Amino acid sequence: MPMRKKHKVKTEEMKTILITGANKGIGFAAAKQLAQLGHQIYLGTRNVKKRNKAIDSLNNEGIFNVEMIQMDITDVNSIAKAKKELKNKIEVSMC
Ligand SMILES: NC(=O)c1ccc[n+]([C@@H]2O[C@H](COP(=O)([O-])OP(=O)(O)OC[C@H]3O[C@@H](n4cnc5c(N)ncnc54)[C@H](OP(=O)(O)O)[C@@H]3O)[C@@H](O)[C@H]2O)c1
Repeated sequence: MPMRKKHKVKTEEMKTILITGANKGIGFAAAKQLAQLGHQIYLGTRNVKKRNKAIDSLNNEGIFNVEMIQMDITDVNSIAKAKKELKNKIEVSMC
């Protein structure tokens, strides 16, 4: 099946997006596709080793508009810490 051509979003349409659970599965796939469109992505992950693997994998595909933020969505303190770190950077959350 032919690959669908990815169109970059226009500069004015670019968003900064936080995706939790982004080191694998649907979260990772969403992060990759949105980054390829040109959005700035924060990968919210709780495991440093898995997170580094996810970032390396994206970097190896030429995707560098991704940053990471440590966050366990079942831990209120962890969420508060991430919120403080991100401040007003995030325009879209996929949690
Ligand atoms: N952002 C989102 O909306 C989002 C993201 C991912 C999944 N989901 C939902 O999860 C379901 C399964 O998806 P999947 O097949 O992709 O599952 P999956 O392959 O098992 O991946 C689940 C992801 O969630 C992470 N995760 C689990 N508990 C977490 C927690 N307490 N704090 C932070 N991250 C946590 C996992 O991280 P570890 O590797 O550390 O376990 C992993 O990255 C679906 O119903 C999907 O809708 C939603």
